[in-house]
Order: sequence, then structure tokens, then C-alpha cells
Amino acid sequence: MTTQPVPVELGQFEDLRTAASACTSCGLSATRTQVVFGEGDPAARLLVVGEAPGAEEDRTGRPFVGRSGQLLERLLAEEAGLARSDCFIANVVKCRPPENRNPSTAEVAACRPWLDQQVALMTPAVVLTLGNFSSRLLLSTKEGITKLRGRSYDVEIGGRAVTLVPTLHPAAVLRGGKVPMAQIRDDLRLVATHLQEVAA
Ligand code: URA
Repeated sequence: MTTQPVPVELGQFEDLRTAASACTSCGLSATRTQVVFGEGDPAARLLVVGEAPGAEEDRTGRPFVGRSGQLLERLLAEEAGLARSDCFIANVVKCRPPENRNPSTAEVAACRPWLDQQVALMTPAVVLTLGNFSSRLLLSTKEGITKLRGRSYDVEIGGRAVTLVPTLHPAAVLRGGKVPMAQIRDDLRLVATHLQEVAA
């Protein structure tokens, strides 16, 4: 059976972007340059969720444009045949934590409704979570990414049933060498398999 993507209400999605860009729900609003809402095709079957914007993302307003983003883009193309524009890329926390510190529990909680609303207005079949923050949050677990990765999970996000594939954060892959590189490649092939299943 072919699963047709439901058309995304683009007006509503852009209204959500506008609302998020004025968010003051946590202290990060005082230090950010701008909100990094996310980028790509809201009707994409794949949603990629990272942790939080870094300096380059805060400056440009675009997610994953630094070194991690370049690696992500290359691996998505090589292992899943996907261009950046074939996905929607977002973060758990939409504003840069100062000095790139980890987002606090309160900041993650304050930002969660934006992600839920994004997913509710999108039509992802597969959600790829990058690293501990997004994987733990969306799988509601304290387990670490090295234990969680290597398989997929059926979960509900923003009222939508999706297949979640957790993998390592590309920044950890950049630091980690051959083993994490092989692992993220395996996980991206799993993403491709799930995307083929929903398209079949
Ligand atoms: N790391 C993330 O988790 N998100 C970005 O947007 C950039 C780097």
C-alpha cells in the first residue's frame, strides 16, 4: 500500500515559525541572536532533530550549518540518498545556549511545545534524533545514545505516530573516529530502509 503524505498547511507552519521567533519562554531568549526554528521541507517524510544551535547557527538562523552540519549533509547523501532539502532539520532547543553549554532541563522543557507543534503540522514518517538530548527526550528515557542506537522505535510525537531512529551526534562522530562513523552510517541506512517501507 502506498502512503501518501498529507498536504502540510504551510500557512499554519509559517505562523508557528513567526510565533516561535518571538519566544521568551526561557532565559536563552536574552542571549540568542535569533531563534533557529528549523529548515527544509515541512512535508518531508524525514525529520532530523539535533540538540541546540551553535554559534554559526545562531548567527545565520539556520540549523546544522557548521562542521557537524556538513558531515550530516554528506552522510545523509551517501547512506540514504537524501539532500538536505529532502528533510526538515530542527533542534530540541531553538536558541543557542551561551558558550555552547548543554541546554538545561528547564530550557528543554520550555522549548518542547515548539517541537511538538512542528511535528503536529508536519508529516514525518521517520524521525532521526542526533545524540543524547533529542534521543532521550523523544524516547522518554535516561539511557545513553550508545545503548539506544542501532534500532528503531515506534513512538508518538506531537500526536503523530512515527518511527524514531536514534543515532550519534555528528559532533561526536567528528571527534570519535572510525567506530562512531561506521555506527552513524549504519543508522542512516536504517533510516533509508524505513523511508523505503513507507514509500512502497
Ligand atoms: N548541533 C546541533 O545539535 N544543532 C545544530 O543546529 C548545530 C549543531
